[in-house]
Amino acid sequence: MTDPSLNVPSPAPEPAPEPAPDGATGRLAGSPEPAPLIAPSLLAVDFSADAARAADAAADWLHIDIMDNRFVPNQTIGLDEVIALRAVTTSPFDCHLMIVEPEQWATRYAEAGAFNVTFHAEAAADPLALAKDVRAAGARVGLAIDRDTPVEPYLDLLPAFDLLLIMTIKAGFGGQEFLPYLLEKVRVARRHRNAGHLELRLEVDGGIAADTIAEAAAAGADTFVAGTAVFAEPDPAAAVEHLRRLVGGHRP
Ligand code: DX5
Ligand code: ZN
Repeated sequence: MTDPSLNVPSPAPEPAPEPAPDGATGRLAGSPEPAPLIAPSLLAVDFSADAARAADAAADWLHIDIMDNRFVPNQTIGLDEVIALRAVTTSPFDCHLMIVEPEQWATRYAEAGAFNVTFHAEAAADPLALAKDVRAAGARVGLAIDRDTPVEPYLDLLPAFDLLLIMTIKAGFGGQEFLPYLLEKVRVARRHRNAGHLELRLEVDGGIAADTIAEAAAAGADTFVAGTAVFAEPDPAAAVEHLRRLVGGHRP
């Protein structure tokens, strides 16, 4: 700042900086479009502190898959491990709960510091009530729909959510083949979001890689989970960067 006592003209103001994505939300200031985010999935590596730290720097969000061997035939980590990972990383946590009775757990992940907590529509007794509880507990809230679940019955619920996760595989395991027909749900959700002026992220999860991400982006997805495509590469940070570039020219 110029010292007024010097009595010299103020320098011309600096040009306004380009809007930068907010680190947590990825939303560009003044833009109705959420900026694309890449969320590496720790399921593809392991849930160790070292792996989480390695992914942390490159990630927009860290995607953490919580599986209970009941909602899906696989089991991963739980609340205590997520709390431990929170302490050694800085990226916003995108917790994807593939568990029965998410009412028992979802708010606890919010309280543990998750930025976003997503539960499955197929598992929740009252998705609207749970969405409200998760928000009240301090996190954003997402609704996930699995491969065989249509999106239409849930469209009216979306104003209560910050994110819709559309599985592009059957939930449960990483490394599966991307199912392009499921992008029709993304297109439907995208049209609904635009028509309703909803602030809603559209996330795709499963088989997202260099050869599929552009198609998902063109369908209207803005948030991309990638496990194998990031961690099977020798340089995970470079893989994230590559995916980010591929999204660039393919936004609807
Ligand atoms: C599977 C999980 C995914 C999984 C994706 O149910 O929800 O997040 O990590 O793995 P890739 O990217 O390898 O398909
Ligand atoms: Zn997931």
